Amino acid sequence: MEDAQEILNWYILAGVDELCAQTTQNFLASEKAPTAQPQTKILPTSEKTRPATTLLAQTTNVACVNAQDICAQAQTLDDLKALLESFEGCALKFSANSTVFGYGNPHAEIMIIGEAPGADEDRIGEPFVGRSGHLLDKILQAAGYNREDCYITNVLPWRPPGNRTPTDSEVAVCLPFLRRQIELVDPKILLLLGGSAAKALLNTAESVSQLRGRVLDYIAQNGKVYPSLTSYHPAYLLRTPAQKGKVWIDMLRLNRKLAEM
Ligand code: URA
Repeated sequence: MEDAQEILNWYILAGVDELCAQTTQNFLASEKAPTAQPQTKILPTSEKTRPATTLLAQTTNVACVNAQDICAQAQTLDDLKALLESFEGCALKFSANSTVFGYGNPHAEIMIIGEAPGADEDRIGEPFVGRSGHLLDKILQAAGYNREDCYITNVLPWRPPGNRTPTDSEVAVCLPFLRRQIELVDPKILLLLGGSAAKALLNTAESVSQLRGRVLDYIAQNGKVYPSLTSYHPAYLLRTPAQKGKVWIDMLRLNRKLAEM
């Protein structure tokens, strides 16, 4: 029994915090190793995007085109949520417990976008409900809002194992769902929390420190322009509390911008 406890402690120290299956499986021995197969639709050559060079790039391209086609069908947030729940083009879905869709006021003026669900969000199925979420709630309260006033979502709807940074291809495949969510909520302003959200929507390599304080336009698929402000992610603030004052300044900027609109 003590041995089992020691082994468990060792796994926790090594960063293992998820059980993927009830029984261990030897993928090398198995003839049919279960791999997460993106839901691919073979498109006529004319519809394909420019030729890709690697299998990953080709698979990502096909999954992105599929995701865009699927998202175009959604006329409401409920449609989009149902379509996302049946979408199998991103392998993260197969290691996650929940598909974490957006939460809050579907007609919100402020849409808040983070990176990806963490362990608590994956368990509960709602964005920003763990430690980062509690801090976000406090930030919103201090600025005169609560989470129900806003619409809160993430770039990715599935938790990357161990909270690792999402890969570019995971972001690319999931992005059409975020872009369509923005069109359907149609907020007045976007608040991008952290570098992943800014990089995904503003197509920039600039850091959050460089982006802060600037109102930058995000252009939706339908051509509509949404102003955005970028600020630090609450998870970063939990690690670096000295930066909290800067987020307060960013929230004042957000309020000023909304008041002008
Ligand atoms: N971090 C995020 O970016 N999103 C969440 O929902 C939770 C933590």
